[in-house]
Amino acid sequence: MKGVVLAGGTGSRLLPLTKVTNKHLLPIGKCPMIYYPLARLKEAGIREILIVTGREHMGDVVNLLGSGNDLGLNLTFKVQDQAGGIAQALGLAEEFACKEAVTVILGDNVFEGSLREFVEDFKRQGLGAKILLQKVKGPERYGVAELDENNKVLSIEEKPLTPKSNYCVTGIYMFDSDVFSIVKTLKPSKRGELEITEVNNIYIQQCTLSADIFTGWWIDAGTFDSLRDAHDLVQKSNLDDQVLNLLES
Ligand code: G1P
Repeated sequence: MKGVVLAGGTGSRLLPLTKVTNKHLLPIGKCPMIYYPLARLKEAGIREILIVTGREHMGDVVNLLGSGNDLGLNLTFKVQDQAGGIAQALGLAEEFACKEAVTVILGDNVFEGSLREFVEDFKRQGLGAKILLQKVKGPERYGVAELDENNKVLSIEEKPLTPKSNYCVTGIYMFDSDVFSIVKTLKPSKRGELEITEVNNIYIQQCTLSADIFTGWWIDAGTFDSLRDAHDLVQKSNLDDQVLNLLES
């Protein structure tokens, strides 16, 4: 299993904070944002990680992380020339994955607890995909799952006006190596992006997507409100110290 951290995009929802730096380098507590997903991958036993980011800030990202050696990681970097969506960025990881399964995590996602059990479950699943859901107020700003009475995912809608549930899709995705041929079939959405939600819907149609509920707190820190919430929650729980310990041990 290899890891991919997607740290591209323009960060426009955080302007002017992101005018001269990459969103994923902004601080949350004592750590740059990108440390949180990196620590979760490391803790799940995934040390070989590709970081995808835009050309403007790749230099800063490399300056921060280096080879990964100091953090107990083996890092590779790939430039996403233009922001074309999460699935487009994932497509850049095909050679790196080299036919292995991948755990993909968004660089602005902060998970309170370990993701190890979910990664282990997915390894036992052996093929297809796995996502983690979380019950939220205001699911409209996320991908939202339609669930049956047994909590099986029937479909996912990206930022729906009338969400079919309160369960949103968090920014961690586990995929078998078929994901790269799936990405190649995608067409840009109305917002001009290749959508990860479409990838997940294809796995749902193939009946190979599993979903678990993540019950700890989780934040996509990509807006001012959520960045502030992330600071508060990280400070209350000392998650920044835990992340530093995880990465430095
Ligand atoms: C992306 C995904 C969305 C998911 C969210 C989680 O949204 O498109 O399905 O729920 O990440 O962080 P974005 O942050 O690109 O708006």
